[in-house]
Amino acid sequence: MTYYRSEQVIEEGLAKVIVPRFEYYRRPDGRLEPAWMPVFYNPQAVLSRDLTVLFLRVVLGGRDYFFIDSLSGTGVRGIRIALEVGGRGILNDVDPRAYYYTNKNIKLNKLAGRLEAFNSEANSLLNNLVVTGVVPDYVDVDPYGSPIPHIDSALKSLGREAYLGVTATDTGPLSCTYPRKTLARYWSKCIKLDFEKEFASRLLISNIALRAAALEISLKPLITLVYKYYVRVFFQARRSAVEAYKTINNCTGYLWYCTNTIERGFTKNPEEVGFKCSDGSKPVVLGRLWTCNIIDPEVASKMQASIGELPWISSLSRGVLEILAQESMINAPYYRLDKLCSILKINMPSTIRVIKRLREMGWISSRTHMDPRGVKASADYGELVEVLKSMSQQHTT
Ligand SMILES: C[S@@+](CC[C@H](N)C(=O)[O-])C[C@H]1O[C@@H](n2cnc3c(N)ncnc32)[C@H](O)[C@@H]1O
Repeated sequence: MTYYRSEQVIEEGLAKVIVPRFEYYRRPDGRLEPAWMPVFYNPQAVLSRDLTVLFLRVVLGGRDYFFIDSLSGTGVRGIRIALEVGGRGILNDVDPRAYYYTNKNIKLNKLAGRLEAFNSEANSLLNNLVVTGVVPDYVDVDPYGSPIPHIDSALKSLGREAYLGVTATDTGPLSCTYPRKTLARYWSKCIKLDFEKEFASRLLISNIALRAAALEISLKPLITLVYKYYVRVFFQARRSAVEAYKTINNCTGYLWYCTNTIERGFTKNPEEVGFKCSDGSKPVVLGRLWTCNIIDPEVASKMQASIGELPWISSLSRGVLEILAQESMINAPYYRLDKLCSILKINMPSTIRVIKRLREMGWISSRTHMDPRGVKASADYGELVEVLKSMSQQHTT
């Protein structure tokens, strides 16, 4: 395979990928700026791609399946899927330069019989598939910014039982940096919370699940990842009007939150939040949000188990997956210990010590991959506060 002096070949997973030479697209501080490159390749998204491979090995591995990488950039994600999981697929990008790279990379990896490059607008391609009867088992949506403009067409294209991977990099609106945008794009009031990253993922999931339900598709998030500037969710999709109703009814609801004390909880009915916070103030009510689990324990542990077969998976991905598997056991937003201890006016014990103490007391507790200061626990607010206070007293006496 020939390539130009302005290009280089990198390796990621089992894939060899021709990309523009990084040295031309570095900021003065040496950091690579993928948005400046003629085709988008971001080394920081290796975690997202590693998890895509591991997820698909668990849910589709060993089957003859068909996938669409609808916003493929260099094609690296789809090429890794083909090499590390299997299946056949379409790698699509509207940008002719991305199409050029994707074609070259398919050839470089000797995948011409299994992968085909397309140069279409993603919604047009996915909507056309519905008419032509081509039914993907997995669709990947990895855009710049919000995934919302791509969700309906991706959903419509899916088979009866299929999977959907979605990235959102609009973490500002999702975590309430721009409340007006949050309301317009994600149909929820919001305020700044101590667990803003989990809020972002629960808001994204509920919004996509609501759109799916309108198309009589039931969506269940199986893996949720929040890393640096992006949220990535892998869903299971089932075509069923009854299931779609049940999912929305059971798994979307509202969050009540006390801004002074950071007490919180989920509720089905916002009118039911008539109670007061422990300092006497009124909780705010936000939503709709996803209130069921956002990580499936079985899928997370199977993904962890399958890492042994893939020695090239990065150490970052291994570490994140280990935490994902632990935190999947608790369906409650994490508490930021630094915030809670500052409210309680006590010294902050280490997250590891708090988790150990909670576990000794019989609670399920875990770190969260979303925030190093976060702790997840099956204990309620009052119990957590007591644990923190007793640890702080032990520390000072
Ligand atoms: C974030 S990059 C994709 C990165 C790639 N999935 C990866 O893992 O490296 C987003 C890509 O979407 C393409 N794109 C943007 N709008 C599009 C559209 N409406 N239809 C198809 N491709 C589009 C861009 O050209 C860009 O290559």
